[in-house]
Amino acid sequence: MLETKLLGNGFAAEINGVDLGDLDDATFEAVRQCWLDHKVAVFRDQDLSDEALVGLTERLGGLFVHVRDTFHAPDRPEIMYVSNLKEEGRPLGALGDGDLEWHSDQTYTRRPVFGTMMYAIEVPADGGETCFSDLSAVYENLPADLKAEVDGKTGLYTATRNRTSQLQPLRPDQLDRVPDQRHPLVRKHPYRERKALYLSPSHLIGVGDLPEEESLALVARLTEWAGRPEFVYCHKWRPRDVVIWDNASVMHRRNAFSPDERRFIKRTGFHLPEELGVPFS
Ligand SMILES: [Fe+2]
Repeated sequence: MLETKLLGNGFAAEINGVDLGDLDDATFEAVRQCWLDHKVAVFRDQDLSDEALVGLTERLGGLFVHVRDTFHAPDRPEIMYVSNLKEEGRPLGALGDGDLEWHSDQTYTRRPVFGTMMYAIEVPADGGETCFSDLSAVYENLPADLKAEVDGKTGLYTATRNRTSQLQPLRPDQLDRVPDQRHPLVRKHPYRERKALYLSPSHLIGVGDLPEEESLALVARLTEWAGRPEFVYCHKWRPRDVVIWDNASVMHRRNAFSPDERRFIKRTGFHLPEELGVPFS
């Protein structure tokens, strides 16, 4: 039986008493089910080698490799560095120190990453929180007029919009690998009965056959709704935290922090099995 503690707003949970680097099959399955139930799972005080981090990720699903190859760990493309640190003047990892807007990871790919895992090595004393919006609760509680505008619609997701100054544009050869994609805007979870809004304001540029301007206005209304405090959990990082989130259930954003602070997080991701992969609705 896992020892869990709800972290607020009815979804994210801290799971205590487990060593993620040494899980027997029964405990692993219990952790996986608990994560699926809670959408965001937090584990404190973990010690994971790169090998253990990748091993755990692979146990959860096929390994995801980010198209931003500039920030892969040396000899470990499955690990991406998320950091504001510089090594010999070169950024060690993507994303810098500013605000990062709401998004769901890699919605602009044919098979978006299902789960994302972040393992904190160094974190700022202030700021840099990662906030999650529960898109199943958001969908369930949408006002009827907004629900009518998203039900049965597809969204058009692109890697090129890049409205945040925190991200370098992708190189042309990287962009070639991620052409725009359409996915259902409301999806039923592959392992649970619940539905969720597939909202990713960083990437979503079209809804159904609406013109871009109307689509973006609708996305803005949905984003405002999804950002209400009752749907959001903000994670204050501690070193050695592991957080796993379900991109089929939540979207996330990152708060700014002082450039004088150090932040270094290792990120991995895993896919759904091909037969359950998107588009699903
Ligand atoms: Fe992200």
